Amino acid sequence: MHRTHTCGELRIEHVGLEVTIAGWVQKARDHGHFNFVDIRDRYGVTQVNVDGDKADLYEIAKSLGREFVVKVTGVVTERTSKNPKMATGDIEINPTSIVVLNESKVPPFLIEEETDGQDQLRMKYRYLDLRRGPLQRNMQLRHRLGIETRKYLDSLGFLEIETPYMIKSTPEGARDFIVPSRMNPGQFYALPQSPQTFKQILMVSGYDRYFQIVRCFRDEDLRADRQPEFTQIDCEMAFVEQSDILKTFEGLFRHLFKEVKGLEFSEIPHMTYGEAMRRFGSDKPDIRFGMEIVELTDIAKHKEFPVFNDSDLVAGICVPGAAEFTRKDLDGLTEWVKSPQIGAKGLIYARVNADGTIKSSVDKFYDENDLRAWATRMNAKAGDLLLLLCGKDEKTRKQLGSLRVELGNRLGLRPKDTFQPLWVIDFPLLEWDEDSQRFFAMHHPFTSPKPEQFEQFMKGEDLGNVIANAYDLTMNGVELGGGSIRIHDRNLQQRMFEILGFTPEAAQAQFGFLMGAFEYGAPPHGGLAFGFDRVAAMFGGDDSIRDYIAFPKNNMGRDMMIDSPSVIETEALDALFIGVREDLMPK
Ligand code: AMO
Repeated sequence: MHRTHTCGELRIEHVGLEVTIAGWVQKARDHGHFNFVDIRDRYGVTQVNVDGDKADLYEIAKSLGREFVVKVTGVVTERTSKNPKMATGDIEINPTSIVVLNESKVPPFLIEEETDGQDQLRMKYRYLDLRRGPLQRNMQLRHRLGIETRKYLDSLGFLEIETPYMIKSTPEGARDFIVPSRMNPGQFYALPQSPQTFKQILMVSGYDRYFQIVRCFRDEDLRADRQPEFTQIDCEMAFVEQSDILKTFEGLFRHLFKEVKGLEFSEIPHMTYGEAMRRFGSDKPDIRFGMEIVELTDIAKHKEFPVFNDSDLVAGICVPGAAEFTRKDLDGLTEWVKSPQIGAKGLIYARVNADGTIKSSVDKFYDENDLRAWATRMNAKAGDLLLLLCGKDEKTRKQLGSLRVELGNRLGLRPKDTFQPLWVIDFPLLEWDEDSQRFFAMHHPFTSPKPEQFEQFMKGEDLGNVIANAYDLTMNGVELGGGSIRIHDRNLQQRMFEILGFTPEAAQAQFGFLMGAFEYGAPPHGGLAFGFDRVAAMFGGDDSIRDYIAFPKNNMGRDMMIDSPSVIETEALDALFIGVREDLMPK
């Protein structure tokens, strides 16, 4: 072994002991007669104090550059000036030998808690970024969450079963990543967007409690909380109802919070999708703060203001203490709501001043009495700011929901270290798409309607109002996971595909295996999947999942370190029967 101890281990009680540590040079400081060298490994940092009287060691110490790999043997000594900020700050090593195990070029950015490296550079030199404390803590957190998840689910009799990565492309959901088959010319596998159908098949096979910490692949637009390959904690249970699933996985989160963060929480509240949209304009509301959506249509319409009069809904949020927002702040917010990502036409505001007067951006159309009626409806106090949007009902609520979250961020109402889970339940089963003039499954096509609506569903009556037996676990405004009770009856499944616009032949070709399995004794079953990367980021207090994944892709889906995707030799493509589009080749 190159070491007797790690760099995070030595304490005052080790004084007098001869030890060997090994690691990377974090910093070397020449103080004239003394040379201090900080050695780092993933456990911590230990200071080595090289006395100028030991000329040979002093020379080696002076030659050390950042990130050199060294092995140091010496005696643990009490420091004369201690550093209470370091776990090893009471001691240092008085070396008898320093061996350079490998040299290092000067790294392109600082490998410290705070780095000066920009994103692109950090991605390219991911191996250096991964040496930094924050990344190392994230990897450890992720590991701990994985282990505790396995422990908890194992204790309940869940079996971890692997499902294939080379499967079949399906038209539902996001776009698939595809893999050509050399042995079957012109045919392709798809990488799974999730193991959904396989886990259902496992239920038919009698593995009544399944889980898998599993990689999933989706070719969709990337965001801070979305990667093209990501990991799910994927679970399925047979002979259960929704309440059993919610209880079981509420238990998982209770276990994870207790073991990993030392936190307890009481029962997780439930909220229907309808209520979440109405009050918060979001199906994943952050319920740690107020600013709920208040409807003003009946009192704001039918005055002289045409914009409101032409709208289905006029609604707003009351921002506490924000009357002091400057004109510039409000112009900034107006621009923000008009940005393509929000898509509002404009923002109406009214300030409730300290002296009780109310001033609005639509004073021309509304007198003090009108404005007071708004303020009363919105429970506004002196010093508050009313922000109003208008338009079509659902769209306006979503826009207000985004505005609410944005203001929650700006006003510091969304701290990283408080956690408020919420089950959102009773999602609509189907969503109507205007462009394609057809229904899409809101969760996925295997989700069951509520049993009391089976008949309505089979008859195809008022399909937009059929409620799904589906649920999401949200926390602090983030969707951590979701699932549903599944259809386990062949006819019901077939009807679902029909409603989604599949011909019987297409449904059979795509999902015949599943419907076939349902004819051989499929038990009632259901499950859910959590985004493991999102869970890790939530526990770590981050919005972005990127630094909770060892080797993530950038927002163009590129791995900057290995430089992928990349062009493939023409011969290799020929062997796969894939033509080259010269016009699309990188220049
Ligand atoms: P769903 O599509 O809701 O459900 O995915 C489950 C959870 O996976 C996470 N997630 C992602 N995380 C990172 N990057 C992505 N691109 C990404 N896409 C999804 C989210 C999400 O809540 N088979 C169903 C589950 C089931 O019904 O059992 C499914 O995949 O946290």
